[in-house]
Amino acid sequence: MDTIKIDLKDSLDLEKKVEYLELAARILDAGGVVAFPTETVYGLGADALNPSAVAKIFVAKGRPQDNPLIIHVADRDISRYVKGIPDRAKVVMERFWPGPLTIILEKQDIVPEETSAGLPTVGVRMPSDPVALELIRRLGRPIAAPSANISGRPSPTSFQRCVEDLDGKVDMILGGGRSIVGLESTIVDYSVFPPRVLRPGFITIEMLREADSDILYEPSFTQAGEDEGPKAPGMKYRHYSPKAPLIIVKGDKNKVVDKITSLVQNYIEEGRRVGIIGPAERRKDYPPFMEGMSVFIPLGDEEGDSGKARDLFEVLRQFDDLDVDIILSEAVKEEGIGTAVMNRLSKASGFNIIEV
Ligand code: TXA
Ligand code: MG
Repeated sequence: MDTIKIDLKDSLDLEKKVEYLELAARILDAGGVVAFPTETVYGLGADALNPSAVAKIFVAKGRPQDNPLIIHVADRDISRYVKGIPDRAKVVMERFWPGPLTIILEKQDIVPEETSAGLPTVGVRMPSDPVALELIRRLGRPIAAPSANISGRPSPTSFQRCVEDLDGKVDMILGGGRSIVGLESTIVDYSVFPPRVLRPGFITIEMLREADSDILYEPSFTQAGEDEGPKAPGMKYRHYSPKAPLIIVKGDKNKVVDKITSLVQNYIEEGRRVGIIGPAERRKDYPPFMEGMSVFIPLGDEEGDSGKARDLFEVLRQFDDLDVDIILSEAVKEEGIGTAVMNRLSKASGFNIIEV
């Protein structure tokens, strides 16, 4: 398939941008699939109300059929698509939409089973990215969209990374700069009481609880389960994986540096090339060991944390480009958005975490 690839760069004049957005909306209207930017990660979209269009998303991504999609809306009035919206969910939507938050509710019949993967519920999100919002408005219907990666890979946060995964597999790829959040939306399940966070994200548990103090979060909600209860079906699959195995080292800072250093030396002796992830301040602790057999890529700073969220998936993909044999990462402190960063990092490692 020939993929139309258009980066809506700032330098493009407004008329052209509108023309391409209109083309993307027409492709969606006709049942095609279009990758597009959102503030979290790029999405791979299709008309959420068209079962055969939605089916194409699963094929393009190689996504398991039992993993439901979330639908993206451009308006807070979602009563056509979901029912039984508790007032507490309305408060949360009012506060955080448009933005990186997905709410799960009981679906209306208009949302096809293909979109919800047979579940009686559906996830809904109103993104804040202007290109995403304009595309939904022009289509006039919700857009079903998972992250725009090949299943199992780190989610794409730029036009270029989308092209890498999806060129030739979808009708169109629209670019709109780097995703400013960098991690997928926080998911809260409001089809149950008390409501549960199924996936941590940029909207933190602390922020959510200010709007609704009953919201529950336990890391076990977000992990692969023996599957009782309303966990996100997607959680049981391999996720966010770079090509090389990833190991996380967690604990006191000095011990972590010592452990990573000794592991690096062992791996290099075995002839393996090693990637190292840590805060920017740590560059001096991890000099290139043995003539470029190791390479350090910083992930944010020791203290600030939104940079870690924004860059995590991009850093994992950079190690793919460098073709390292193994990646060692310092753990990230699990508070604020660090909870979401560590959630994705842990999954990317297949929960391969060494505590020191
Ligand atoms: O930020 C985001 O949410 C991005 C952008 C494109 O909007 N989308 C995204 O979609 O991350 P996806 O499909 O990669 O992740 C959605 C997750 C999956 O783990 C899926 O299993 C879960 O949400 N999910 C979807 N519908 C659900 C439902 N009705 N009940 C429980 N989990 C659900
Ligand atoms: Mg995904």
